[in-house]
Amino acid sequence: MNEQDVDGKAVLKLNVDFECDFKCESCEKFFECDNPEKMKIYNRRRMSMAKKTMAKIKYKVAVVGGKGGTGKSTTSVNLAMALAMMGYKVSVLDQDLDGSSIPKMLGIMDKKMQIGPKGIVPVKALNGLEVISMGFVQEGDEVITMFHDMRRGTTEEFLAHVDYGERDYLIIDLPPGTSSDSVNLLQYIPELDGVVVVTVPPRVSQLAARKATLLAQKAGAKVLGIVENMSGYVCPYCGEKFDIMLSGGGKKLAEDTGVPFLGRIPLHPELSEACDSGIPYVFKYPDNPASKIVMGIAKKIDEKVSK
Ligand SMILES: Nc1ncnc2c1ncn2[C@@H]1O[C@H](COP(=O)(O)OP(=O)(O)OP(=O)(O)O)[C@@H](O)[C@H]1O
Ligand code: SF4
Ligand SMILES: [Mg+2]
Repeated sequence: MNEQDVDGKAVLKLNVDFECDFKCESCEKFFECDNPEKMKIYNRRRMSMAKKTMAKIKYKVAVVGGKGGTGKSTTSVNLAMALAMMGYKVSVLDQDLDGSSIPKMLGIMDKKMQIGPKGIVPVKALNGLEVISMGFVQEGDEVITMFHDMRRGTTEEFLAHVDYGERDYLIIDLPPGTSSDSVNLLQYIPELDGVVVVTVPPRVSQLAARKATLLAQKAGAKVLGIVENMSGYVCPYCGEKFDIMLSGGGKKLAEDTGVPFLGRIPLHPELSEACDSGIPYVFKYPDNPASKIVMGIAKKIDEKVSK
């Protein structure tokens, strides 16, 4: 066996007939190779593929939140649509691998992702949105239990091997909490343009949202701001606002963590109805006051990332 040097470390050649060129991702000897550097080289190349694909998208923004059901996916689709309505080319990555709801919220549940010459082809939705989701892989009631490596591999596939093309925005809808799926995403897109944190008013939700905010900061991502969702209910008859859950917690969290407060989205029956109908609220009811709030939040995000 011969020896060669890669990154200053000794590397063994498998046999005299085989020249190791360190292209591990396409190496025919990959499984029999016992080079201790193999996985490092392989992972670094895969990371660089994700980087190359992501470089074609101008702005990458992740939507996070601590607790489940606080409206992260609702906020993601409405922000994506608001940006599309501003004239941008927007893609949505549904990073909620177990509980994807983006296909349902965009009325494209029956669609499937195809493989094209340049990789996975996103599914087209209303107003030019393009979507990548595990929801397009699963069949109806099929349950897929994914373990750690599979989760990381899926995140990698969705970042590195998708033919997103040249886009203005990638809005990434993350699952609740600070799980490995969130960490994988933050690791794979170190040049993320920012994170939007969604919380509901109660303190219990803010404790978890605080952790999601701190994780993003720890990963070096810029927190663009906090959205307080389901913040107050405006009576459609008398126009009076009721704080069903104590409001103001999102603003307090923003102050405590030193990040901007982006706004309050009220609890609104039509917001939920629009989600179920597969047409984002901002697109379906553009003149409603809550739509104007969402458009305002999208504009603030656009200003912050394009600065
Ligand atoms: N401001 C709102 N007014 C009325 N309904 C809302 C509002 N925000 C979200 N909803 C509804 O609440 C439900 C949960 O929202 P959503 O799926 O966006 O939460 P999530 O944080 O993404 O949940 P998960 O943690 O499971 O991913 C949905 O049915 C949605 O339509
Ligand atoms: S797997 Fe990588 S290190 Fe091992 S022989 Fe192939 S190219 Fe060389
Ligand atoms: Mg969700």
